[in-house]
Amino acid sequence: MHLAIIMDGNGRWAKRFGWPRLAGHKQGAESVRRVIRHSPKVGVRALTLYAFSSDNWQRPAEEVSGLMRLLAHFIEKEVAECRANGVRLEFIGRRDRLPANLLPAMERAELETLGGKRLHVRIAIDYSSRDMLLTKMRPGMSREELTRCLGPDVDLLIRTGGEKRLSDFLLWECAYAEFHFTHVAWPDFEESDLEAAVAEFEGRERRFGRCTIKMNEPSSVSC
Ligand code: FPP
Repeated sequence: MHLAIIMDGNGRWAKRFGWPRLAGHKQGAESVRRVIRHSPKVGVRALTLYAFSSDNWQRPAEEVSGLMRLLAHFIEKEVAECRANGVRLEFIGRRDRLPANLLPAMERAELETLGGKRLHVRIAIDYSSRDMLLTKMRPGMSREELTRCLGPDVDLLIRTGGEKRLSDFLLWECAYAEFHFTHVAWPDFEESDLEAAVAEFEGRERRFGRCTIKMNEPSSVSC
């Protein structure tokens, strides 16, 4: 299963305690750690996390630089454990506007975890799905070719923090995704929240535009 997560609510979480927004992002990094560790146990094979959107550059400079430092620190700290646990790390998004120390950390992490087969984690940094589509799409390209360039279709998309929007994330890949919106703020998101979202997903009937027809029961046709 390919799970994608919009990790929202960090700023409001910090505000609850009268802390700076960055404290929420730091706590959010702990949730990232928990979710990466727990994902393989609930059948997730690919996990895409929205860490920094191209529109996030418009946030206050202090928050942006703090987030960049946090990402670099996280990547450097996690590589060894990811490698030991069969987790492959990859980054999606633009790479030409990142701070000088972040890009080498990302490239090293990708190289060192390349052989990971248990879980494929993609972290979206300076990411805009619209820009990604414009960059990858070529005239005459088939659906399959574009999907190969972008990555697998999303099965389940979780957005924490109470908002219900896609915010320029995986627009093509979410064509038939199931959506799970929760009021839980990302720093509070725990293993049990992941389990509940996956259990709800597993109970849903995915029809991909087709009908469900139960034999001998014409009244049960639904589209
Ligand atoms: C949205 O919450 C969150 C972000 C813009 C950043 C997400 C980043 C992390 C969770 C940090 C660590 C990430 C990794 C991959 C280690 P918000 O700030 O918009 O919250 P608000 O809506 O409450 O203000």
